[in-house]
Amino acid sequence: METGMLHLHSLLRWVILLLLLLGLIQAFGKKESIKSTSLWLMIAAHTMLLIGIYQWVAGRYGILNGLPENVPSLMKDSFYRFYWVEHPLLMVVAITLITLARGKAKLLNFKNTGWLLLIALIFILVAVPWPFREAGAGRAWFPGM
Ligand code: HEM
Repeated sequence: METGMLHLHSLLRWVILLLLLLGLIQAFGKKESIKSTSLWLMIAAHTMLLIGIYQWVAGRYGILNGLPENVPSLMKDSFYRFYWVEHPLLMVVAITLITLARGKAKLLNFKNTGWLLLIALIFILVAVPWPFREAGAGRAWFPGM
């Protein structure tokens, strides 16, 4: 189950990125179809939040396992600092922005929706463990690769 969750978490990133791009085009193009895009985006983002919390707590590098003996301090270890602090924190902010954007989109407030989605996109791009990320935190482009 754990591998399945990780694969889903990895794959859903692409769904979120595509929906964010689509939502941005719609928001700045003042198209009402952003109402449904923002709903799917919020569902995907909240699913990501739930899987993320599970991994963060009970996953293979989850806090229930504690820090390995060779890692005396969380903030001095770039791998654990990334997965325990930086990645979750930035992603929670991004998911909050996506949720706020959905609220605005429902009211057809396209301009604010666009800015919220743009900032969420930047946070996600910064916080995803891309393959080129340093200190062993980088992961594959697609699950199972
Ligand atoms: C839009 C939100 C998010 C995106 C796009 C995202 C993306 C990713 C990606 C691409 C990976 C690497 C998966 C792989 O190994 O192939 C990952 C791993 C991870 N994410 Fe997220 N994530 C998000 C939200 C969260 C949240 C909110 C949390 C925690 C509360 C979280 C916790 C984790 C943890 C702990 C791992 C490492 C899991 C492991 O290696 O066992 N993520 N995330």
